[in-house]
Amino acid sequence: MPERLAVYPGTFDPLTNGHVDIILRGARLFDRIIVATLINPEKSPLFPVEERVEMARQVFEPYPNVEVDTFDGLLVDYARRKGAQVIVRGLRAVSDFEYELQMALMNRRLHPDVETVFMMPAEAYTYLSSRLVKEIFALGGSIAGLVPEVVETRLHAKQRTG
Ligand code: PNS
Repeated sequence: MPERLAVYPGTFDPLTNGHVDIILRGARLFDRIIVATLINPEKSPLFPVEERVEMARQVFEPYPNVEVDTFDGLLVDYARRKGAQVIVRGLRAVSDFEYELQMALMNRRLHPDVETVFMMPAEAYTYLSSRLVKEIFALGGSIAGLVPEVVETRLHAKQRTG
């Protein structure tokens, strides 16, 4: 049997507990899962890609079949280069569906042999997003339980250093 390898792509600015939930579900389903962090110089992310990768590597250190990597260019090209058969995406609510369907079908058109698999996070994370985490944190609200501890610590450090 060939190895079942999945890629879980995203911006992860920052990684949330919703992402972690999906990645761990993926790690139970596939032999290996690669957390593929988008290098997006055109946007201005809160955390540079190196820092996003570093935090994710810390979180997934106890899970030998979870790898953390970066990518740019087309996701399907990256998936093919890695030998992945599957792209994993999380679906939180109906509102995610249209964008996700569009991406999945476009990716299929580009490379029909790479399949997109959708997974639902635990209910507690269905309303969680990186964008909201950043907004709540910036406005002084508590993000405890919404992001891994390492992310919370780095957000506080960033706030202190400006
Ligand atoms: O965490 P996000 O921002 O929802 O992730 C979006 C991501 C990284 C999956 C998407 O923007 C992407 O795949 N970008 C790479 C460029 C690409 O392949 N574009 C065509 C998509 S059909």
